Amino acid sequence: MRPGVAPGAAVRILAPAKINVGLAILGPRGDGYHELRTIFQAVSLCDRIGLRRTRAGVRVHCPALQGLGERNLAHRAAALFLEQTGAPGGVRVEIEKRIPAGGGLGGGSSDAAAVLLGCCRLFGVLPEPGLLRHWAAALGSDAPFFLDGGSAVGSGRGELIEPLPPFAGKVVALLHLGSEGLATTEVYRRLEPAALTGRERAFNILLARWREGDLRRLGEKLFNDLEAPAFALSPGLPAVKEALSASGALGALLSGSGSGVFGLFGSDEEAERARALLRERVPGRLVKVHFLPARRRWGVVKR
Ligand code: C5P
Repeated sequence: MRPGVAPGAAVRILAPAKINVGLAILGPRGDGYHELRTIFQAVSLCDRIGLRRTRAGVRVHCPALQGLGERNLAHRAAALFLEQTGAPGGVRVEIEKRIPAGGGLGGGSSDAAAVLLGCCRLFGVLPEPGLLRHWAAALGSDAPFFLDGGSAVGSGRGELIEPLPPFAGKVVALLHLGSEGLATTEVYRRLEPAALTGRERAFNILLARWREGDLRRLGEKLFNDLEAPAFALSPGLPAVKEALSASGALGALLSGSGSGVFGLFGSDEEAERARALLRERVPGRLVKVHFLPARRRWGVVKR
């Protein structure tokens, strides 16, 4: 543990959603997880989190997630922080939920990462970055990505993060959020391992397209190996993806294990035009989001 920043009584922190701009599953591992490669991209749909020091214990207030109790990832993150650092006292966590659960958007993992970062500030503790990543990985495969956010390649079970330069071209994403969330475990369970050939090569081609910065060329190569099992579980999703493509998206894809589907556009005007077209044709919500740069570039911890 390094000597830290000055502690405070309360902090506020944003927890952004992510989309997976491509996801390759290489195969099952021996530990119940699957080896994957993905491009993570943080987007401007954010949960808002408030942390306050208390005398003892962890309390989470989140009207949208009532009933989860101590299984809530934010709760587990605060408890893990207190246990690992021996910080004196407790924490009250307040979450204003904007990222729907079961959308493949990493909402729970992002809240957990934000709570870890916020607790460091609250208690004036600065753990080694490797330690913070280790704690985040214990909370969820996607959580380490959210410590810095921005754009990154994820590998392993998703917890190994390599920063990626931001996409050079202009991108606006329309995010479709239906009412039905999908359970990640269930989607992975339905994956057909036999269908997984040449996935690393396919991912490397996608990554090369990302680095080129041409959205049309990136859009041609988008794929997510979890689409087939997610579409089998939620038969309305392919029509959403097709509608996004037909409305002018340069690429459309399921995010993570779904059920969120996004379309990528080259300008605000094109995304707005598509949104107007889709409003009548597709049930559910359509949210326009931007790609966010890495967390260290937008300073989100506020007293
Ligand atoms: O790590 P996380 O709790 O988000 O994973 C939820 C579930 O999704 C795991 O228990 C596992 O069944 C599945 N999973 C997987 N391979 C991954 C990530 C998640 O099989 N790389």
